[in-house]
Amino acid sequence: MSSGEHVPQGSRPSPPQIAPADGQLAVFCVGLGAVGTTLIAGVESIRGGSGRPIGSLSQLGTVRLGRRDEQRVTRIGDLVPLASLHQLDFCAWDPFPDDAFVAASRAGVLDQPSIERVGAYLRTIRPLPAVFDPSYVTQVHGDNTRPEDTHRQRVEVIRADIMTFMEAKGSARGVMVWCGSTEALLPDHEAYHSLEAFEAALDRSDRAIAPSMLYAYAALGLGIPYVNCSPNLSIDTPALTRYAAEHSAAIAGKDLKTGQTMVKTVLAPMIKARLLGLSGWYSTNILGNRDGEVLQDPDSFRAKEQSKLGVLEGIMQPELYPELYGDIEHQVSINYYPPRGDNKEGWDNIDIFGWLGYPMQLKVNFLCRDSILAAPLVLDLLLFADLAQRAGMRGIQEWLSFYFKSPQCAPGVYPEHDLFIQLTKLKNTLRFLAGEEPITHLGLEYYDYFS
Ligand SMILES: NC(=O)c1ccc[n+]([C@@H]2O[C@H](COP(=O)([O-])OP(=O)(O)OC[C@H]3O[C@@H](n4cnc5c(N)ncnc54)[C@H](O)[C@@H]3O)[C@@H](O)[C@H]2O)c1
Repeated sequence: MSSGEHVPQGSRPSPPQIAPADGQLAVFCVGLGAVGTTLIAGVESIRGGSGRPIGSLSQLGTVRLGRRDEQRVTRIGDLVPLASLHQLDFCAWDPFPDDAFVAASRAGVLDQPSIERVGAYLRTIRPLPAVFDPSYVTQVHGDNTRPEDTHRQRVEVIRADIMTFMEAKGSARGVMVWCGSTEALLPDHEAYHSLEAFEAALDRSDRAIAPSMLYAYAALGLGIPYVNCSPNLSIDTPALTRYAAEHSAAIAGKDLKTGQTMVKTVLAPMIKARLLGLSGWYSTNILGNRDGEVLQDPDSFRAKEQSKLGVLEGIMQPELYPELYGDIEHQVSINYYPPRGDNKEGWDNIDIFGWLGYPMQLKVNFLCRDSILAAPLVLDLLLFADLAQRAGMRGIQEWLSFYFKSPQCAPGVYPEHDLFIQLTKLKNTLRFLAGEEPITHLGLEYYDYFS
């Protein structure tokens, strides 16, 4: 449901004034599991000099400026004012009471010596009791939860937690990232369609409103940007999109594009670019972490399946190329296989056809590490969401599509899934924010064709 009634439409505006990234940035992490702890432990080890921010565009990426013959290349951190890693303070909620040290050890992503090195810091991060409802995440059974009876009370305790933390840390700003479990796929509901209906549903504590929506509502109402790393609906409704815009808060989602789908959104554009046909794409995974366990629940898996399946149709445009992409058999499955832990293994079998219809196959076997791929994306997202917030860019941040399987975008616009178009969009947005010209790659200016 990628839409929002009140998203302002318009032509390219002038670059905004960006407030400086002064002061501490409070990072509110909903869910202290594999992704959350790998992010926090990673940031702390980079701050201490024992780790490197590999995979993070905000930390390592560069942007070319101007013509190619000007040889002007700058690091992203020098182009736009981003908060530094030393300015980040982490706060988390989780229905499990384990501190970040125990949770990181349980998650099994990082080796124990790496966790020990940042152990003193991780032990200081104890999750606050969560606003949690097991009917949305049936495989999680923790009792570090809030007892409140009504949705309005739940929103208020989240807000109180946010303000208490920011006061204690003297934070200048905040950003919230949902790194919680995948909630069950929710059927469409009138409460999502308008802010008025959503708030009426809040008043009657309607079950259509999932915990992730309560956290989002709590944060956005305080003008704190919200990023959804999971496939659950959360902010991807006209109701919360409008609420974000009304409270001048940035939002981005949903579902981090890390492993198999990242590969898919690179290979599919290649097939399409050469106008090769595609008859089938079979993707399967084994995964043994808690996320894999949660996804055993058919309702949670359906949320994931929807976001994984959506990308092919968006890229291949079967309506424009019915003879090439009008009949694709696309299957995706995730199998919970505990021995693998976080080290996901994905297989893809891709059936394509070429000149005169002759069939060919591509096989991909990706032995990846789920949260090692995810953590740098969450870091980029929280820093860029904070940048957007300081630039006054409220509502949907389509330029952050690069990070998501199901990028949110304006109503009437289709989402862009091609990884390299997404990267171009992101870098052009950074150029724009820095008052530089976007790069079109047209390249005619280097040749004397028409004189
Ligand atoms: N790891 C990846 O590469 C990747 C990629 C894309 C998306 N994701 C998504 O990111 C999310 C987190 O993944 P993970 O591997 O860290 O999962 P995880 O199971 O290790 O951690 C999720 C944590 O969220 C907590 N939680 C659940 N409901 C909550 C609530 N209402 N409030 C606070 N905490 C809550 C759980 O107790 C758990 O500790 C999942 O939805 C996953 O699908 C992960």
